[in-house]
Amino acid sequence: MNNIKDHENLSEKKVLLRLDLNVPLKNGVITDQTRIDKIIPIIEFLIKKNSKIIIISHVGRPKGTVVKNLSLKPICENLEKKIKKKIKLIDENIFELKKENLFKGSREQVVFLENIRFYKEEETNDLNFSKHLAGLGDIFVNDAFSCSHRAHASVSKITKFLPSFAGLQLKTEIDALKKVTTEIKKPITCVIGGSKISTKIEVIKNLIPKFDNIIIVGAMANNILSYKGKIIGKSIKENDCEKIIEEIFKASKKYSCTISYPEDVLIGKNLNDNPQIKEVDEISNDDLILDIGPKTINKIKNIIKKSETVLWNGPAGYFENPNFARGSYEIAKTIIKQNKDKTFFSVAGGGDTIAVINQINAFKSFDFVSTAGGAFLEYLEGKELPGIKALN
Ligand code: 3PG
Repeated sequence: MNNIKDHENLSEKKVLLRLDLNVPLKNGVITDQTRIDKIIPIIEFLIKKNSKIIIISHVGRPKGTVVKNLSLKPICENLEKKIKKKIKLIDENIFELKKENLFKGSREQVVFLENIRFYKEEETNDLNFSKHLAGLGDIFVNDAFSCSHRAHASVSKITKFLPSFAGLQLKTEIDALKKVTTEIKKPITCVIGGSKISTKIEVIKNLIPKFDNIIIVGAMANNILSYKGKIIGKSIKENDCEKIIEEIFKASKKYSCTISYPEDVLIGKNLNDNPQIKEVDEISNDDLILDIGPKTINKIKNIIKKSETVLWNGPAGYFENPNFARGSYEIAKTIIKQNKDKTFFSVAGGGDTIAVINQINAFKSFDFVSTAGGAFLEYLEGKELPGIKALN
């Protein structure tokens, strides 16, 4: 993998820089800026080298159409303030852009393409789209480890058309995760939550042989509860997961990995409701499961206390409403407390997980915090991520 630091002459080179600025947004306001902060070094590095920077990123899942509230405008403005430099947001159709017209005059140094997922060709890894995109620059840099598990045009296929390099943050993340996977100490526990069920449920099965405990919380746990015959009311659930869940439980027996999931939960009638504790047998049809309950929290605490390594990805509930943030905070606090023991090792990853950790000011209390969620889990699985493979 070529590292951008080793490139000999970047002056005046037009650098297509893939970043993952998929930050949480609430009514156009960024609620956690960590992913932006982490890519400042690559921007400053390229500015110093006198390169011309064309930033490519996505936010959310607009699925190939223009969705106004998934514009990169607030993110572009935030970045502008951080680097103290004007950034032009280009919202013209990408297919109409020409390399020679991107930068007007010598003073323009950074431009930002509008949400790349407004184009359906991005997610289909379309050849012509990738070629056109590549035609806008001289070299390509991937500094988006957290979306390198996606075989998308601006992550993967684009590398076919340009000299391609690993960015600074991507390298840091890979080096840290390599260390985790080679020096890991047992018993190992993985806490998996969040709402991206389809991304993660397949991964769990492949993680089982490597872990002693897998704790499933968040929306992911709803599918398990439903599989176990519990009513989950109006809670988020992914369809057609029965087969994979059956395989998960079979594999857990074969490899002696204990799978834990909620015994009690906090429910609300809507996202803004006040919490009510319920046993998983008591949930009614109009309930929304929004956090784990106190019994489940205690069980998780005991498992973490008996572990030597804990990897955590995905919140335990709808932490955006403080009424349903307790489960996630308790997981974080237990890991932090345990981390005071020098032999214990903790890694957390993912945009929402980082948001939880930042809410309690605990970023530095983990051994490593990865910006990646899905990519982090797939890396742990031992998979070669498409974005990394393309750089190799
Ligand atoms: C992430 O937040 O994990 C990445 O930006 C990828 O997003 P995705 O799951 O929508 O592909």
